[in-house]
Amino acid sequence: MSEPTQSSAKLRVLVPAERIKARIDELGRQISSDYSGPIILVGILKGAFIFMSDLARVIDRPTRVDFMGISSYGNSKSTSGEVRLTKDLDMSIEGLDVLVVEDIVDSGVTLTYLIHLLSQRRPRSIRIAALLDKPDRRMRPIKVNYCGFEIPDEFVVGYGLDYAEDYRNLKDICVLES
Ligand code: IMP
Ligand code: MG
Repeated sequence: MSEPTQSSAKLRVLVPAERIKARIDELGRQISSDYSGPIILVGILKGAFIFMSDLARVIDRPTRVDFMGISSYGNSKSTSGEVRLTKDLDMSIEGLDVLVVEDIVDSGVTLTYLIHLLSQRRPRSIRIAALLDKPDRRMRPIKVNYCGFEIPDEFVVGYGLDYAEDYRNLKDICVLES
C-alpha cells in the first residue's frame, strides 16, 4: 500500500459535520418510530463505519450490530461491476429485522448483490439506510428507505468514505477535485 496522502489534493466541503449530525438525529428518530422491536444493524465495511456508529447511538430501540465486507472498486473512482465478499456476518439474521447501513449508493451494484445474498437467509425484513445517494448514477434499481442526503454526481470523501483508502477520517463530506 502507498503512503497515506491528504495534503496535495483539493477538497471542497459539500456537507459539513453539523449538517451530518442534524440529519442523522432525524434518521434516528424516524427509524425508532418505524420499528417496534429489535433491529439488526448490518454495516458495510469499510465506508459505513462512522455513519454506523453515529446512527446506532441515536436509535432508541434494542439493536445488535454486525458487519459485512464488500469490495467492488479496487482503487478507481467508478464501479468495476464486480462485487466481492471480503467478510461475512457473524450472526444469523433468520426471522429478524435487518437494517443495512451503507455509506453511499452509486450504481446500485453493491446493494443489489448484498440484498440478494441477505434475502436468502430469510430475515423478517430488510431495509436500507444510506448516508448518501447519487441517483444520477444508478444502473440497478434500489430503494433506499432512509437516506441522509441526495448528492450530485461528484466523487466524495470523508466521514468514512475514501479514495484509495485515504480521507476516511475527515469530519465533513468533501468533494475530491482532480
Ligand atoms: P455502487 O455499487 O456503485 O452503488 O457503489 C457503492 C460503493 O462505491 C460505496 O459503498 C462506496 O464504497 C463506493 N463509492 C461510490 N461513490 C463513491 C464516492 O463518491 N466516494 C467514495 N466512495 C464511493
Ligand atoms: Mg462501501
